[in-house]
Amino acid sequence: MAINNIENSYEQVWLEYKLDKDSSYKRFFSNYYINFSGDISNNIIKELALFTNKKFGYNITECKSIKDSTLILKLVSDKTLGDEGFDFSLTKTQVIIKANNAVGVLYGVFHIIRDVNCNSTILEYNFKSIPQNPLRILNHWDNMSGEIERGYSGKSFFFKDGEIIINERIKDYARIIASVGINTININNVNVYDAHKLITEEYLEKLNTLTDIFKGYGIKLFISVSFASPMVIGGLNSADPLNKDVITWWKDRCRLIYKMVPELGGFLIKADSEGRPGPFTYGRTHADGANMLAECIDEFNGIIIWRCFVYNCQQDWRDTKTDRARSGYDNFKPLDGKFKDNVILQIKNGPMDFQVREPVSPLFGGLENTNQLLEVQIAQEYTGQQKHVCYLIPMFKEILDFNTYCNSKYGKVSDIISGKTFNKTNTGIVAVTNTGDDQNWTGHDLAGANLYGFARLAWDTTLTANQIAEEWIKQTFNNNKKVVDIVSGILLNSWESYEKYNAPLGIGWMVNPNNHFGPNVDGYEYDRWGTYHRADHLGVGIDRTKTGTGFTLQFYKKNEELFSNIKTCPDELKLFFHRLDYNFVLDSGKTIIQHIYDSHFDGVEDVESFLKNWKNLKALIDNKSYKRVLDRLKFQLTHAKEWRDVINTYFYRKSSISDKKGRYIY
Ligand code: GCU
Repeated sequence: MAINNIENSYEQVWLEYKLDKDSSYKRFFSNYYINFSGDISNNIIKELALFTNKKFGYNITECKSIKDSTLILKLVSDKTLGDEGFDFSLTKTQVIIKANNAVGVLYGVFHIIRDVNCNSTILEYNFKSIPQNPLRILNHWDNMSGEIERGYSGKSFFFKDGEIIINERIKDYARIIASVGINTININNVNVYDAHKLITEEYLEKLNTLTDIFKGYGIKLFISVSFASPMVIGGLNSADPLNKDVITWWKDRCRLIYKMVPELGGFLIKADSEGRPGPFTYGRTHADGANMLAECIDEFNGIIIWRCFVYNCQQDWRDTKTDRARSGYDNFKPLDGKFKDNVILQIKNGPMDFQVREPVSPLFGGLENTNQLLEVQIAQEYTGQQKHVCYLIPMFKEILDFNTYCNSKYGKVSDIISGKTFNKTNTGIVAVTNTGDDQNWTGHDLAGANLYGFARLAWDTTLTANQIAEEWIKQTFNNNKKVVDIVSGILLNSWESYEKYNAPLGIGWMVNPNNHFGPNVDGYEYDRWGTYHRADHLGVGIDRTKTGTGFTLQFYKKNEELFSNIKTCPDELKLFFHRLDYNFVLDSGKTIIQHIYDSHFDGVEDVESFLKNWKNLKALIDNKSYKRVLDRLKFQLTHAKEWRDVINTYFYRKSSISDKKGRYIY
């Protein structure tokens, strides 16, 4: 509930415990025994006190005797649990949570809190829970000014007017994300505008305080730094990674940083991308750039996370050979095996940029000797900007389940990023996050399911989108069956519905350039940015097979064949991989043009049903959330109609083919 004054008040999302004095789980929460101390232990005790107080109406007490306690929290030595896993066991009167490290116990405690809140049966048997991904990361794109790049839920809660913020909300944020197993955050924008200051003495002390807060919840803090820092703050005239003065500057700077912020995780770097500086300026490779920094940070156990989002954003429309989709692989595949052990490449899920539908980036599986992270985006930049409901967990499931065929046993993306496929430990998953200082943290209340769901999936990629949705609904709203059914019905259909009224069949990019919101079919087509769909009166789509840009050749054979062959290429990606005429018949039996019309009318009908169903919840959930979602669904409906009409009229006018069903098209 509210902690600060009204203006700054904020909610506790899924940690908003609701009083249930008669809960049968109470018996396990009379008192606790704990055999370790420290910051994490103190936070565990605080969490238990808060929970028992709000949920059961009393304060749990500490018990010095293991025999008489109801909840036993123990550090043990058990190799099978790894650094962060925990073991849960049960006797008639006791719950026992064991782990190798304090953070494992913290996760165990949050786990049982979740189970109690969900009324889950899990508290009836013994189990072990070990995270599948070593790194479970959130990337904030916050600027020090307080603005958030692609932020749709208010301003930054990390920065304001060039300063770092340290307050109760930051602490609550740490516990909220720790409760779902996030263990790493990067706090500032990958486009480092003003944040070069973060690595100057003036800011390092506060950065250290932040680092300590998060450490108390098992979370490592990273910062984005500019590759050109030696020039921007060092006064050098070069940032060449092989230049001696540059190397000395970084070495000295890392020493200073780690003297003042010993627990910093490392740096995240966006280089040679969308105008950011990088090694290309000096004729060097990305391995040269990343390794130089990795060398400087190594003695402090620091890590360099290096993004693969490198492409030519100035492609001329006459040039049909250059293909943005190819560029990640073209730039990084030749460097496979050349990065130091403390470098991790961060790869966006698709080869383009967080579109509603893209194939998986062929870098997954393509890189066999490199640490890698899968980067997804829960800030819904291209998927409705947290004004439309778009539950992205089903999309992430598809990505994680995609078989790259790089390995006969462990070929899936989920295997690669868990480290299993190539026997790595510096691997995992990251989301560009969707939070801000809005009261509900995520603008759209239902966007909270993406934050929660991403983290749960990062811990356990085998959870289903449905399970995750249910958990989130029960903790955020309540356990009422009707609430669970209606909200999960909306969430689980929302991505598909959004896709229906968006750009068709995987082609993407029919948004307004710059703000990426709202339909503008030719916005990018006629923009200098150079990302094209190439629709004309004959057809639409891009040939990315070997007869076109050759992008399909970057996949392993089976996928290359799957996507290249028009007969096997899945409908939803047909226009991503092929240029087709409007009368081409899809697997669904519809022509492309008819598919466009039908899906756009359907998408709007879906949103109408979301709104209608939501209205049935008026008496069943708190009024504030009810109204906020209602307003957004109303907006979504209007906006979905705009999408439908703009796209339909565009293709009607290009193709001159009428809708078979005779509906009105502008
Ligand atoms: C997108 C987004 C940018 C962002 C970039 C990135 O292009 O629109 O705002 O900087 O991705 O991931 O670096």
